[in-house]
Amino acid sequence: MSDTTPARTSDVPTPERAVALPGTTAAPTLFENPGLPPHPHRMADVDPRAAKRAERQVAAMFTLSMLATLVFLVSYFAVSMDQAVYVPFIGAVRLQHLLLGLGLGFGLFFIGVGAIHWAKTLMPDEEVVEERHQLRSSDQTREAAVETLQEGAESSGIARRPLIKATLGGALGLFGLPFIVALRDLGPLPGDRLSHTMWKAGMRLVSDPELAPIKASDVTVGSVFHVMPEGIDKVEDILEQRAKAAVLLMRLNPNDIKSAKERDWGYEGIVAYSKICTHVGCPVGLYEQQTHHLLCPCHQSTFDVTEDAKVIFGPAHRPLPQLAITVNDEGYLVARQPFQEAVGPSFPERGHR
Ligand code: FES
Repeated sequence: MSDTTPARTSDVPTPERAVALPGTTAAPTLFENPGLPPHPHRMADVDPRAAKRAERQVAAMFTLSMLATLVFLVSYFAVSMDQAVYVPFIGAVRLQHLLLGLGLGFGLFFIGVGAIHWAKTLMPDEEVVEERHQLRSSDQTREAAVETLQEGAESSGIARRPLIKATLGGALGLFGLPFIVALRDLGPLPGDRLSHTMWKAGMRLVSDPELAPIKASDVTVGSVFHVMPEGIDKVEDILEQRAKAAVLLMRLNPNDIKSAKERDWGYEGIVAYSKICTHVGCPVGLYEQQTHHLLCPCHQSTFDVTEDAKVIFGPAHRPLPQLAITVNDEGYLVARQPFQEAVGPSFPERGHR
């Protein structure tokens, strides 16, 4: 038997194996490889008449396939396109289309069934074991490959011709640059666009979509407002500005706020955070009043509003940026400054506003 010939199960030795029982430090116990269970022979393997019967069954399937294909061919040429027939549950269909479909379908079906029956009843039926061959090449093959490479380098003369070596290196190095330069055509970096939103110091917070200014006294503990900067309806690129400037406004009990910076950037427990998820930018719209968690519906990132909206679950990598707020003379909530970092996905992490 050659190296690549699969061994029959009866040829395979059944070595003894040594294993330690789980949870014990006892010496390994030897046990015998049980091998495969006894192979049950099929009727066609032991009875020539059964084999002949199976052969006739397979031939019958293939014959049915031929008949079905003939139905297809005859209907294609001989059946008029104008003839219709009523099929229950479907309605009126063209007779030719029906026969073409049935002929083709049964032609394929009987070939498949015949082949399966043939394989199951008449083709060789023995389990075989094929040992995996080693993937590593032999030492000679590896040495020969290294030698070939060295010969190639030597015959090219590159070691003796430094000028060619240097210019080839330069040419190959420069060749990659056009592909990098072409990346500019993909447009401005998202980081640049997300670094600037409409928010400015003194700009009033207005409810979305009513665009009504919000007084601090309107925001009760547990309530949430979807907020835009005042004047959002007057800008030209309204869609882009709305997408970047969206903010969620919530009032917490000041004692629940754990971060001094968050308390300082808020107003009497009212805090404002960017609504754009720092994962890939979905709107974070679900606020759990009991836990003070903000949830992003896209990939379930969860932010803790009591602690700088830090990420406590999910794929987002950084907290939601906070918008510092205060109130003006009339008691309306206003931004104290623009966002101090880029809103949205994490990749543009630089100093931003
Ligand atoms: S965009 Fe929010 S978790 Fe993915």
